[in-house]
Amino acid sequence: MIVLGIETSCDETAAAVIRSNADGGGEILSDVVLSQIEAHRPFGGIVPEVAARAHLEFADHVVKQAMDQAGLRFDQLDAVAATGGPGLIGGVIVGVMTAKAIAAAQDIPFVAVNHLEGHALTARLTNNVAFPYLLLLVSGGHSQLLIVRGVGDYTRLGTTIDDAVGEAFDKTAKMLGLGYPGGPPIEAAARLGDASRFDLPRPMRGKPGCHFSFSGLKAAVKRSIDALPPGPLQVQDVNDMAASFQNAVADVIGERTTRAIRLFRDQCPNANTLVVAGGVAANSSLRHTLEKIAADQSMTLAAPPLNLCTDNGAMIAWVGIERLRLDQQDNLEFAPRPRWPLDPHAPKAAGAGIKA
Ligand code: KG4
Ligand code: ZN
Repeated sequence: MIVLGIETSCDETAAAVIRSNADGGGEILSDVVLSQIEAHRPFGGIVPEVAARAHLEFADHVVKQAMDQAGLRFDQLDAVAATGGPGLIGGVIVGVMTAKAIAAAQDIPFVAVNHLEGHALTARLTNNVAFPYLLLLVSGGHSQLLIVRGVGDYTRLGTTIDDAVGEAFDKTAKMLGLGYPGGPPIEAAARLGDASRFDLPRPMRGKPGCHFSFSGLKAAVKRSIDALPPGPLQVQDVNDMAASFQNAVADVIGERTTRAIRLFRDQCPNANTLVVAGGVAANSSLRHTLEKIAADQSMTLAAPPLNLCTDNGAMIAWVGIERLRLDQQDNLEFAPRPRWPLDPHAPKAAGAGIKA
């Protein structure tokens, strides 16, 4: 089975082709990601209208490039999958309409994929992970802990009640004058900084459950910056704040994940894999913390390679394959879903907005 996957829900226009293997795995034949970072950089964050227009302009080129790199014609595809939500609606519409057009023209199945399921199932493609497993999803739009029991079968243990962790990195970087996206420059500055200089809070640490909160941390960073002597920030201030912030984030995520491991063990006593996904999974301080926790708890940590942790088309094509193997597909009536929780039965986290 050869499946094209299209991803347009945020600020990457992406397409990839995967061929499924008889052994249950898959081979990535092409994987094209066009980042819109430069278009959004002047605004210090993603502007939905700018994103939608860029997807409209480039989606067909990116799809053509993915097909060319795979060395395939459209009539050699067995199915086409696209992100159907959640995400910025303008971009999702572009991807879904592109995929529907290809499906209709070639008379092949169309699969509307939940973007979060793309992140959630990538480790099955890259690390051959078996169900069930515990997933920590940390990106610019999401911070969640989920039990992944099977395709379409998720139990959410925790989510953020305010900002996503990547958002906290981006906003902190902006306050420190480090540019967008904020994760990589914060990580670089933190390497040169003293993490004990600023005493930042660890929101939610010790609280029951596995929810996250990052807005208080962001506010504390602002207060600490405001308390410094007037004038431009010194390089050492920036480095020390980056290190203090990154440490606080790793501490909180580590504590929340340790709690989630306990709940996971209660529900799935024979399983022992922790998967980390999403752009923030690139952070080496966080990875280090998770490796330590996994070792302490006798869990195996699986992290997809970085290019498949951030948004991409391969994860969408892969979910297409997983769902088609279960005879699941969508019809051309599918309407894009700006909100689409992986676990529709999860109790609402107080204050949780569209991130859930
Ligand atoms: O998964 P992703 O590419 O996009 C979605 O949000 O879906 O994640 C992007 C986020 C941004 O907030 C970025 O600052 C963060 O991931 N990020 C990092 C690092 N690299 C990217 N955060 C911390 N450390 C990094 N090295
Ligand atoms: Zn994503």
